[in-house]
Amino acid sequence: MNQMKMKTKIIYIDEKNIESPGEIDKLREAAEAIKVGGLVVFPTETVYGLGANALDAHAVQKVYEAKGRPFDNPLIVHVAEPGDIYSYAELPELAGEIMARFLPGPLTLVLKKKGHELDACCKLDTVAIRVPANKTARKLIALSGVPVAAPSANLSGKPSHTDPAYIVKDLEGRADVVVCGENCEIGLESTVVSFDPDGSLNILRTGAITREMLSGYGIREAAPKGEEPPRSPGMKYTHYSPEAPLFILSGSEEKIVDFVKGELRQKRAGFLCFDELLGYFEKGDNIVPFGPRGDLAAQAKNLFGALNRFDALGVEAIYAVKPEKTGIGEAICDRLMKASGGKVITL
Ligand code: TXA
Ligand code: MG
Repeated sequence: MNQMKMKTKIIYIDEKNIESPGEIDKLREAAEAIKVGGLVVFPTETVYGLGANALDAHAVQKVYEAKGRPFDNPLIVHVAEPGDIYSYAELPELAGEIMARFLPGPLTLVLKKKGHELDACCKLDTVAIRVPANKTARKLIALSGVPVAAPSANLSGKPSHTDPAYIVKDLEGRADVVVCGENCEIGLESTVVSFDPDGSLNILRTGAITREMLSGYGIREAAPKGEEPPRSPGMKYTHYSPEAPLFILSGSEEKIVDFVKGELRQKRAGFLCFDELLGYFEKGDNIVPFGPRGDLAAQAKNLFGALNRFDALGVEAIYAVKPEKTGIGEAICDRLMKASGGKVITL
């Protein structure tokens, strides 16, 4: 990739005091960078985003270059208020109901695009649009005065970022400003939905707004694999892959512990481990707590930080326990399966 190195300004924001004049001043500087066509990394409640003015074709182009993202994979447009969606998209009745219930929040709606202003949609006649719940994100977008196109702030194909500590290594020299806030509260990218002409709903990407939460709105089941083209352009690309091969372990606790201990004797491996199993291993950076077995919210929050930590440690292989597939667990399993390229070891 022929990416010109730029000077990156790192800004540390106290998200708990985001309304204070000092923090607003810092955000104003980042918003100004967006306004004039720059790239700004910012926190959201899902994952960190790499934002640019969605009305500026040149700025949007720079997002693709900075990430090494395929040019046919459209970006999500972020707006500060639910009402702003009406300026850029046409809403079917069902979308209005869903918006009222879930926005602002970790849900992206794919809608028919209105007008020709937006430059983030790869010439599609639809736009994926979202209103983050995170106050820092909403303030930044509002201060910039423009809709903000923002994919996840990671190099294309790599794990998303939820912990600002790991972002600088990836994106220093590729963004004008990095706004470092807290670790993302949810930790997985937003749920993406589209609407069929008959009013039914398609879940294009699972997330914290779960299948169960959307079940009252008539979800159309996806056709079996291979029987229809991907509904979301991003689905055909590899995703979330750490440097080392990742294997998901399926089997009894006892067998998992024995297996990982054996691997650790032979190689420098990382283990993403339910908290209940931590006591079986010697403490070390490479044994990363995933959260308690039954705490899916904690596991969602910890997943990408763990994958980025394994990358930073330079382990040779990564092993991960398998979360339950209910609620947000469906989204955690989806990310883990993609990160592993489907490699499951049954013990
Ligand atoms: O939580 C999130 O959604 C984060 C934060 C930063 O907001 N953003 C994010 O963006 O995950 P990205 O670019 O990593 O994922 C966007 C997904 C891709 O799979 C893309 O193909 C899909 O949304 N998408 C974007 N526009 C679309 C459209 N018009 N129709 C269908 N899918 C679309
Ligand atoms: Mg992404």
